[in-house]
Amino acid sequence: MLETVNATRFDRLMSTGKTKPALLACQRADGTEVEVVTKFSAGCERGVTALAIEAILAMLAVDLDLPTPEPVLVDVSPEVIDPASSQFAHDLARTSLSPAYGSVRLPPGYSAVASDKRFDGLITQAAEILAFDGMILNPDRRISNPNCQCDGKHFAIFDHEAALVGLEVLGTILQPYPWTPGALATLGQGPGQHVLFTLLSGKDLQFDRFTAAWAVVTDARLAAYKDALPNSWDSAFPVVDLALDYLGELRKHVPAVLDEVRRILQ
Ligand SMILES: Nc1ncnc2c1ncn2[C@@H]1O[C@H](COP(=O)(O)OP(=O)(O)OP(=O)(O)O)[C@@H](O)[C@H]1O
Ligand SMILES: [Mg+2]
Repeated sequence: MLETVNATRFDRLMSTGKTKPALLACQRADGTEVEVVTKFSAGCERGVTALAIEAILAMLAVDLDLPTPEPVLVDVSPEVIDPASSQFAHDLARTSLSPAYGSVRLPPGYSAVASDKRFDGLITQAAEILAFDGMILNPDRRISNPNCQCDGKHFAIFDHEAALVGLEVLGTILQPYPWTPGALATLGQGPGQHVLFTLLSGKDLQFDRFTAAWAVVTDARLAAYKDALPNSWDSAFPVVDLALDYLGELRKHVPAVLDEVRRILQ
């Protein structure tokens, strides 16, 4: 579910992203090369917990057939990053847990979703993405963030490390469940407005495919997400357990979350 690839070359730091991801050339088990946007535990506010949450949500997105780049684990030896090309990236790799988390670089043609683009034929995909973000409590798919891209035919979503925060207080007034009426209003308001909110406002929303897709997320599948994580990330496992408990509960409330999504977009 999460292939481990080996970093062979440092290309550059990505130009955006508070976690300072690096673009690395990596070798797959079958010997082929792949370019991977790699996040390091030392670059994330929540440390390795951020990587574990990002990996779990990427595996979930793949299972739900949402458009997301392949998630991988990246073995990075700090020597692969020459301090002469980036002391910062070298230090990031040196002070981080191995493996790092990566997503396979999108093919050419994708660019950040901007309000002046046309998205004919992409409304259902867009609605599924907004609903997914509501479900995973993701406040980060904002207009100012380039973490939702489009090539004119498909969207691509990544960057889920800021989701599933506040699980300890979930279900309280501080962090209501997304199936509670009013809980997703923030996706439509202020600086936190979802990047696809305006596009979707007032549209006819179809969720049949997305609702049916949740059938693959069985208890065994949720357990497999945790099993796919490396043991070196074990300090994240208590939060991972909370996250998986939440996703297990969420499955029972998918129609109610979609009702709330319809409510905020009507
Ligand atoms: N798989 C990918 N393919 C192509 N570009 C990518 C990919 N993953 C990330 N990027 C690029 O790198 C940038 C930083 O990645 P990402 O958003 O995951 O980092 P971040 O530090 O979590 O960002 P943020 O500060 O928005 O939370 C993205 O905005 C995007 O431009
Ligand atoms: Mg992020």
